Amino acid sequence: MMGLLFSEILIADPVAASAYEMRTVLQNVGYVVRRVESGEAVLESLHNHPPDLIVLAADLPDMDGYAVIREIRNRRDVPFVPVIVLSIQGDQDAMAAALNAGADEVLVKPVSNPELLLRVRAMLRLKQSIDALADLNATLEKKVMERTRALEEAHARLRHAEKLAALGNLAASVAHDINNPLTGILTYLYLMRQSIPADSTMAQDLELIERQAQVIAQLVKQLQNFARPPRKDKQPVALGMILNDILKLIEHDLHKRKIDVTCECDCRLPPVLAAPDQLSEVFMNLIVNARDAMPDGGKLTILATIETPQTVLVRVIDTGTGIAPEILEHLFEPFYTTKGEHGTGLGLAICYRIVTEHGGEIWAESQAGRGTTFFIRLPAVQQAEAM
Ligand SMILES: Nc1ncnc2c1ncn2[C@@H]1O[C@H](COP(=O)(O)OP(=O)(O)OP(=O)(O)O)[C@@H](O)[C@H]1O
Ligand SMILES: [Mg+2]
Repeated sequence: MMGLLFSEILIADPVAASAYEMRTVLQNVGYVVRRVESGEAVLESLHNHPPDLIVLAADLPDMDGYAVIREIRNRRDVPFVPVIVLSIQGDQDAMAAALNAGADEVLVKPVSNPELLLRVRAMLRLKQSIDALADLNATLEKKVMERTRALEEAHARLRHAEKLAALGNLAASVAHDINNPLTGILTYLYLMRQSIPADSTMAQDLELIERQAQVIAQLVKQLQNFARPPRKDKQPVALGMILNDILKLIEHDLHKRKIDVTCECDCRLPPVLAAPDQLSEVFMNLIVNARDAMPDGGKLTILATIETPQTVLVRVIDTGTGIAPEILEHLFEPFYTTKGEHGTGLGLAICYRIVTEHGGEIWAESQAGRGTTFFIRLPAVQQAEAM
């Protein structure tokens, strides 16, 4: 039993002679032995340096030995430690009291050396088994927690996908129903404008109506895109180029709003298999959101890095308002917006759908008042596929 050697045994016996003898016998077979003389010292050692076994005299100078055992058994914050009580010969009541208090073994003084060694070994084996069980229990609990979390996440993803599908159908039918009368309205507006002088008040009013109707048409188009995403052929795409192109488009606007932009792309970044237009849409939506979150200016950082040989990770980091936890959980839901009439709440739902359709993942981390980071993980094109 190599595992038992070097086990630490604490002897709490006020009688120096018997403590000395036990200590010598136990040390001779390879145990590490410490001796204390009071109940207080036993309890202290539990905290500072817990032993593997305690051999305790029933009659300690400061505390009743049974009270010490009860105290040990009440401690939930320390690992299990077996206790052997040394009792006076013939005192049956004392033996019963020791066991009742929670002792694991009672030895009657004077204890013969072979008996002491036998009992000590049995108690250390007991401790070993209980520790192994506790370890197993902790591992099992951890595994159960991990599996439960994975299940909950899978469930949430499924719920989200179902919601998207249901909303997609609804959006498609609403878009269709609006589109027909809208086409009629726009056609007649056009005809009416043709039949009256261009500088008349009526023509100006009609133009206003037409502009508003165009806004509705645009919204309907967005709804249709959301419901039935256009099929795009995927090809190996260099993310760096996509990001540069988008930034060129929006740089001026960001500069005007006092937003500093940094874009760093690992030069060894492999291409990703994607529909370039759709990826552009994802990053454009994220950048516009970041811009909206920094009304007083700030810093926008885009980092594209190799995460693993199979994946690239893009981070879109802003120093804006941040997102409160209760908003964070609805972020990717269609039509969820905090921008009132200035937002449709489709931006992130579209990002989510495009990224997942590309076999990737998108998520956000945020600290209210500090800013937000959006993470986009995309599968990289392997060398052989790229050729
Ligand atoms: N970077 C960000 N910082 C703070 N809040 C954000 C950020 N990105 C998104 N949000 C929050 O998430 C909500 C949903 O974003 P989403 O892009 O889906 O819709 P939207 O921006 O409101 O409207 P739109 O359809 O025009 O994009 C936003 O209304 C905003 O509250
Ligand atoms: Mg948006």
